[in-house]
Amino acid sequence: MCGIYGHIKKSSKTNSLNACIDGLKKLEYRGYDSAGVAGIHDGKIVCCKTVGKVVVLERAVKAIKLELSVAIAHTRWATHGKITETNAHPHFDESRSIALVHNGIIENYQKLKTELEENGIEFLSETDTEVISQLISFHYENDISKAIQKTLPLLEGSFAIAFIHKDHPDKIIASSRGCPLAIGICHESHDIFLSSDSNAFTSSKLDVFYLHDDEYAIISHELIEVYNLAGIKLVKQIETLNLENISISKEGFDHFLLKEIHDQPLSISKAIENRLDYANATANFSELTLSDEELQKTNRILILACGSSYHAGCIAKQIFEAYAKIPTEVEIASEFRYKDPIILKNTLILAISQSGETADTLAAVKESKRSNCPVIALCNVKRSSLSRLASSTLWLNAGPEISVCSTKAFTSQLTLLMLLALKIARLKTLSHKEGKKFLFEIERLPAQIADILSKSSEIEKIAKKYAGHKDFFFIGRNYMYPTSLEAALKLKEITYLNATGYPAGEMKHGPIALISKKLVTIALCGNKHTFEKLLSNLMEIKSRGGPIVAFAPKNSSEILSLTNDVIFLSDSISDTFAPITYSICCQLLAYYIAKFLGKDIDQPRNLAKSVTVE
Ligand code: F6R
Repeated sequence: MCGIYGHIKKSSKTNSLNACIDGLKKLEYRGYDSAGVAGIHDGKIVCCKTVGKVVVLERAVKAIKLELSVAIAHTRWATHGKITETNAHPHFDESRSIALVHNGIIENYQKLKTELEENGIEFLSETDTEVISQLISFHYENDISKAIQKTLPLLEGSFAIAFIHKDHPDKIIASSRGCPLAIGICHESHDIFLSSDSNAFTSSKLDVFYLHDDEYAIISHELIEVYNLAGIKLVKQIETLNLENISISKEGFDHFLLKEIHDQPLSISKAIENRLDYANATANFSELTLSDEELQKTNRILILACGSSYHAGCIAKQIFEAYAKIPTEVEIASEFRYKDPIILKNTLILAISQSGETADTLAAVKESKRSNCPVIALCNVKRSSLSRLASSTLWLNAGPEISVCSTKAFTSQLTLLMLLALKIARLKTLSHKEGKKFLFEIERLPAQIADILSKSSEIEKIAKKYAGHKDFFFIGRNYMYPTSLEAALKLKEITYLNATGYPAGEMKHGPIALISKKLVTIALCGNKHTFEKLLSNLMEIKSRGGPIVAFAPKNSSEILSLTNDVIFLSDSISDTFAPITYSICCQLLAYYIAKFLGKDIDQPRNLAKSVTVE
């Protein structure tokens, strides 16, 4: 995982250390366990590492009062080794000639480490990364190219690396395999930037290129040279990036999470903007490169995703099957990639990822592409790796999602998936009348969400009442079952409480044994089709003394006698669209419980926004 950054000054007045800190702040979504920065001063490697978030490093760097014109930096999500200053990057070789930052995992690091130790080399850290710096140094005989050509073939796994060497104080050397690494040259200052994510560049207009697998770059302010492993110089394709200067602010909310929950009337409006085609009772996507004929041929859909994006896929499965009548499979990307998948002809592959950088999803898509079936990605982050892999990318247009926990991206994914289901359904058998009804309903979503948000204080009261409990079940039926999975994920992610999502009708087959006064059941009653059945399931829980809180449609007063607390929502929300509105209720519930418990809501422990390792 982790984010790497680098800066070489050409004509700006920027101190490379400060440029790196600014870059790291934009990469913190990739991990925030520790951070570090290094450069060369008076012929020696200088380095500052701290445990915790980038602000802690920023304070430490300010205290050093050092000016550098070349620096590399790192923000870590721990994989190998505890969260300590020693394990923080950059890592060195034994003679401290090299400082190196790394994103990825070296799978054979233990074997390489043992071999180096047998050669008398001592290691300082518990990380896999240190083997890379030690190996480069081991192979270095005054020729940096040769050292890297000897080192890279020994590494198994994935990496994006950047390092400095005290014999080459004006240079950064970088390489990658399976992890993104972008190099940008600022139009104005000609300063050079290097980053795990081109969106983290702190300059607004740059010429950018990406390193591909096993390429390496030797970068100075005068020259950037890129080679392949055979030492052949490569000509890279350069694109000009105009980065929007989006100001990131909580806009008066206490947390980004709450702001992003409240963004949803707007983010859903953006997801449907210019995509509703009333004349043809369908949805249109200007970015879609697949023709209607190709879509019409689809007779199976395969959805690949992780986490909340996977839950969006599980809800979409039911929608594709109900409206487009296409059998749909949803696969957790980390499982799919190691299967021997059967992908039949005319399968449409949908890859869902907010970040477009999730390693498991990328690997699953690479595997699925062997079938030659078209891949449509649904992404929020522009220029992400996934969008470069897919045949077409549908953009969520939700705006930056800063909080680690996904809220508005999840509901925008659902909205886009619903529109895509409508488009395919109209190409199959759905009538014009039904298509139009679907469009009217989807257009009402922003207003319905605003109505949900107006219930925040009611939800806050419920949160306060139940914040002392340790165990929660979220249950629902039909569309509300996958919605309950997402609701449980939200709660456990930001409160660290035990929460499980379950199909209500399945409780009696085992989990009902857990019901007691201490375990709270949150019932998602947004599915009219199975409402009566759900009531019976709630009765079974009530009979066993379990407290029940329900989110339910307004006209369902029979729910009152079964539950301890109810929040009534509009009864005009249809079953198909209820996953969006009911999810937002659960986002608010999780938020307020986390707030009462005093948790680090925007950056929960052990997590990162973008999971770039498998
Ligand atoms: C949960 C959450 C994660 C992500 C998952 C996939 O709130 O944010 O479960 O959904 O890591 O991330 P993307 O969508 O970027 O592939």
